[in-house]
Amino acid sequence: MWGGRYAEGPSAIMREINASIGFDRKLWRQDIRGSLAHARMLAATGIISAEDLAAIEGGLAAIAAEIEAGRFPFDEALEDIHLNIEARLTERIGEAGKRLHTARSRNDQVATDFRLWVRDAIDGLAAQIEDCMRAFLEVAERHTATLMPGFTHMQPAQPTTLGHHMLAYVEMLSRDLGRFRDARVRLNECPLGAAALCGTGFPIDRHMTAAELGFDGPTRNSLDSVAARDFALEFLSAAAICASHLSRFAEELVLWTSPAYGFVRLGDGLTTGSSIMPQKRNPDAAELVRAKTGRITGALVGLLMVMKGLALTYAKDMQEDKEGVFDAAASLSLCLAATAAMLRDMRPDVDRMAAAAGAGFSTATDLADWLVRELKLPFREAHHITGRLVAKAESLGCDLAGLTLAQMQEVEPRITRAVYDVLTPAASVASRRSFGGTAPENVAAMVRFWRERLG
Ligand code: ARG
Repeated sequence: MWGGRYAEGPSAIMREINASIGFDRKLWRQDIRGSLAHARMLAATGIISAEDLAAIEGGLAAIAAEIEAGRFPFDEALEDIHLNIEARLTERIGEAGKRLHTARSRNDQVATDFRLWVRDAIDGLAAQIEDCMRAFLEVAERHTATLMPGFTHMQPAQPTTLGHHMLAYVEMLSRDLGRFRDARVRLNECPLGAAALCGTGFPIDRHMTAAELGFDGPTRNSLDSVAARDFALEFLSAAAICASHLSRFAEELVLWTSPAYGFVRLGDGLTTGSSIMPQKRNPDAAELVRAKTGRITGALVGLLMVMKGLALTYAKDMQEDKEGVFDAAASLSLCLAATAAMLRDMRPDVDRMAAAAGAGFSTATDLADWLVRELKLPFREAHHITGRLVAKAESLGCDLAGLTLAQMQEVEPRITRAVYDVLTPAASVASRRSFGGTAPENVAAMVRFWRERLG
């Protein structure tokens, strides 16, 4: 069964291993845009006639309509999207179609098309990242003072607020946005006109095609133009980092929706039931966001391996640059949509979160800070005394605020009743007013900061 279709011999094997049309047909819009820009430049510089240009424009428009309508006869024997469209053009308009490839090669053509595709992907993902930031911000806005435990090592560390926690993700996503935008700036130079690798003897105008395609200008070295794929690597690396951020929130949702935590509830739309356990509400969407980080990162590592050690300039290895990028872009887009949807769907259980915020002696740092401030103890000593108070509370089965003053004074006689004011989670968060800290008034100010930027 396997290999049966290779019975025709080497030519069938070659056709199959060589063809990229199965996946690079996704570049058809960019290919037509690039060809139109090239043809207009060829006419403007007198390399082809105005009649040829008119025929090419008409033919490409008709081909675009064919592809759009699903009526285009894709042919594997024609290898890739570039040859498929060019062959079809010649079929439709004859001689003029054969002039389109003057002063151009598939090497600069594919580099141009792929840059255009990645640029479009960046623009789409950037809009989605902003929407996801807004979804985090909406939760933050409602919960600037909603108490929850802050964790380190997965252990309750200090009380924080849900709003502060949400804004941490807004910060991460804003850097992701910055990475995509930075990558876009470096990507936005046009390789078209580098031809096969050394440029061309025809009097082309690369500045014209670059401008027509929305690039900032032409690339400066023809060899680099056809050999470079670092724009795709940067895209994948920004995507992988962004996905890793989303995976961290996804993991938190998996934890928070588990009955043991019970911090938030997701509706039926974004969870699944079990066929055998009727009580189950599985956070599958969150789990898949967590998991898809793997394939996105895989695409980055895959392309790094393809590009490593490739002597200049173009080699067919580089045809392997596309599938990972297409898949990573689609996967990240879905992860962003799912994350935004879960944020807008989730119902936090504020009582449970507040109760958890006070558990695990989470205000021990506040107690130690009080000993430093009020009793002028060195912090290390205050830390030690607090440790003994925690141990005492633990042995008595209560929390810190549950210790009587007498019990506290057995450990440190100078402690006064005023200490109880700092032992609640609400007092703890309210006190952390240092810039970037968790105090509700800080959180509210940061919500305003992001609202102004995101609208
Ligand atoms: N399908 C090829 C790719 O995606 C297009 C460029 C082919 N160039 C060549 N000289 N064979 O990389």
